[in-house]
Amino acid sequence: MNLKLKIWRQKNASDKGRMVDYALSDISGDMSFLEMLDVLNNELIEKGEEPVAFDHDCREGICGMCSLHINGEPHGPDRGVTTCQLHMRKFKDGDTIYIEPFRAKAFPIVKDLVVDRSAFDRIQHAGGYVSVNTSGNTQDANNIPIPKENADNAFDAATCIGCGACVASCKNSSAMLFVSAKVSQFALLPQGQVEAKDRVLNMVKQMDDEGFGNCSNTGACEVECPKGISLENIARMNREYFKASAATKK
Ligand code: SF4
Ligand code: FES
Repeated sequence: MNLKLKIWRQKNASDKGRMVDYALSDISGDMSFLEMLDVLNNELIEKGEEPVAFDHDCREGICGMCSLHINGEPHGPDRGVTTCQLHMRKFKDGDTIYIEPFRAKAFPIVKDLVVDRSAFDRIQHAGGYVSVNTSGNTQDANNIPIPKENADNAFDAATCIGCGACVASCKNSSAMLFVSAKVSQFALLPQGQVEAKDRVLNMVKQMDDEGFGNCSNTGACEVECPKGISLENIARMNREYFKASAATKK
């Protein structure tokens, strides 16, 4: 298929940036979206032009690095997939595709389509861990029965890959879906109870300090999340937060 691309080009963090038009021909529907960009970059390099910078690593929906806003949607028009898993068969011959970086104050643009998502790392460092002793004297996991529903919900929350699509899709640039997934995966399990209070208070504080907005229950994050992280996690995080705040005031 033949395509017209309109791509955000920005030399560095201080450059104003602008949309630039490109044309591509003979793109196979079996290519991934990133492979299509690889074709464009090969052509640009052959012409002696600067290739388009974009983030990627695993290219199989695991690492959360790929982060494009495609025709106005984080990770593009498909549901439950990351940009690297999006296939060109989702587009038609002659289509014009708009490709922009994830946009949020807390995700500053580094270059072209690459944004700095280290704010997520700092939120994780604030509490996304457990202090369970794993140095040889751990008890058998089967000694602590966990209700199946809790185990399933914790596992579902743990599938969050930290891609940031929830932030990019939110009119408030809220990171609540991401943070609530990271809080929930521990809040539902016995080994998460030791730091439960500090975890939720510290992670929410870091989220606010980074400049993310609040949740106003629109639900765009849940729709665009490639891992189907549920809004129920935000409700759970709010309950954990109120519980921890009340305990701190006592
Ligand atoms: S909640 Fe979903 S959209 Fe947000 S960072 Fe995790 S996987 Fe990405
Ligand atoms: S490149 Fe790893 S999830 Fe897309």
